[in-house]
Amino acid sequence: MADLRTNLAGIKSPNPFWLASAPPTNSGYQIMRAFDAGWGGAVWKTLGVPVINTSSRYGAVNYRDNRMIGFNNIELITDRPLSDNLREIEEVKKHFPDHAVIASLMVQTKEEWHSIVKDVQNAGVDGIELNFGCPHGMCERGMGSAVGQEPAVLETITSWVMEVANVPVIVKLTPNITDITEPAMGAVRGGANAISLINTIQSIIGVDIDNFVPYPNVDGKSSNGGYCGPAVKPIALNMLKNCAKHEGMTIPISGIGGVENWRDAVEFILLGASSVQVCTAVMHYGFGIVRDMISGLEQYMDDKAFKTLNDFRGKSLQNVKNWQHLNLEYKVIAEIDSDKCIGCQLCYIACEDGAHQAIALPKSVDIRVPEIIEKNCVGCNLCSLVCPVEECITMVRKDDGSKYETWEDYNDMGKAPTTFEDERAGGKHHWVPAPTDALKNNNHN
Ligand SMILES: Cc1cc2nc3c(=O)[nH]c(=O)nc-3n(C[C@H](O)[C@H](O)[C@H](O)COP(=O)(O)O)c2cc1C
Ligand code: SF4
Ligand code: SF4
Repeated sequence: MADLRTNLAGIKSPNPFWLASAPPTNSGYQIMRAFDAGWGGAVWKTLGVPVINTSSRYGAVNYRDNRMIGFNNIELITDRPLSDNLREIEEVKKHFPDHAVIASLMVQTKEEWHSIVKDVQNAGVDGIELNFGCPHGMCERGMGSAVGQEPAVLETITSWVMEVANVPVIVKLTPNITDITEPAMGAVRGGANAISLINTIQSIIGVDIDNFVPYPNVDGKSSNGGYCGPAVKPIALNMLKNCAKHEGMTIPISGIGGVENWRDAVEFILLGASSVQVCTAVMHYGFGIVRDMISGLEQYMDDKAFKTLNDFRGKSLQNVKNWQHLNLEYKVIAEIDSDKCIGCQLCYIACEDGAHQAIALPKSVDIRVPEIIEKNCVGCNLCSLVCPVEECITMVRKDDGSKYETWEDYNDMGKAPTTFEDERAGGKHHWVPAPTDALKNNNHN
């Protein structure tokens, strides 16, 4: 049976599923309910000088039938007194000694950092997370992402915390930066025990086109907020990969951003995460989602014969290369399974207008299944991505697998194009229709 126990820089939890610092971790009541449902850890809603929030503070991107594929907020840190939170931390730890309770913190001066770190340690937290990520409201007061965007300042504040920390310290990073590894290295230099990423991405979620006010509407005005939820997962995975592959990354990583189910969690672990944190999915579906996350992860690990999380943590990192190290001799083309095809012809439209005119419509009106024109297909995947039928269009390998030549090799061998008219360019001898053929066919769908 798979062992899900997790140890991130000494912070132990029964499984890798932690609640991210956010509304679901606002109170001891919520965290007790979450632990009872099966969550392994919780990062408390960020503590500091309590704030005043705006009324109306969230917005969402709904895509077709799916609500909240992206979520946006202009909420600040906790609006509750520190003493109330400390009392509740103590109480949660009494009831759940084996679960991870991590205090997220955000204050300004060295004295405030020292004081609040000691306070939460006295309350019994298992770890501390420094919120250097919030990209709205708090950054305008010189905190949150204002710190995360300045690696030297981040390093200094981390070192202040380390002066008094006697539990592991996680530095939470902002994605609102060109190179995430720079603040990550600042955290390492500052002495942090782990990093977590990502916090939210600065965003305007949309504009009400009738009254001209962006969302969320606060008495006719709005402000940029922080974007999260399923839509941000690819950005989070890339930043996780960048940190995990960095040669100076000597500390573990907690992965955050768009985690909704066990598959998402596995992807984060494969790219180097030791635990995952979840906010939007819990705000959408509640604490109960963790039951499927736990059973799904256990089943996956049993199927793959992974006994512990260490058996597959970072396993995909070796398969992420810089572009110039990919095999340019690898050739796939699309193949349509005519038994599965429902004749919607979406693939034809996509390839005709958005790719390489490599799909032909059937000659007879009685037949709906399109045909791939093999010589035109560049193997871009687009048709297989738009096809609504699972496994109906598959990409089939056409090279014999004997050659592995990369862009770097091409340069070394003199096979790389260097001039505007270079014969060696990939598309040089590739068939494209004459521009005027566009008017002859006039076959717009
Ligand atoms: C309404 C809301 C409030 C949040 N408050 C905090 C916070 O106080 N401290 C913090 O570190 N992150 C905060 N976050 C960011 C989350 O912890 C998390 O990093 C982000 O939402 C990405 O995860 P997700 O895609 O699972 O939501 C907040 C997010 C939301 C949506
Ligand atoms: S998109 Fe898929 S189902 Fe639709 S015509 Fe093309 S192959 Fe058939
Ligand atoms: S893989 Fe790309 S080029 Fe080939 S048929 Fe599909 S869409 Fe067209």
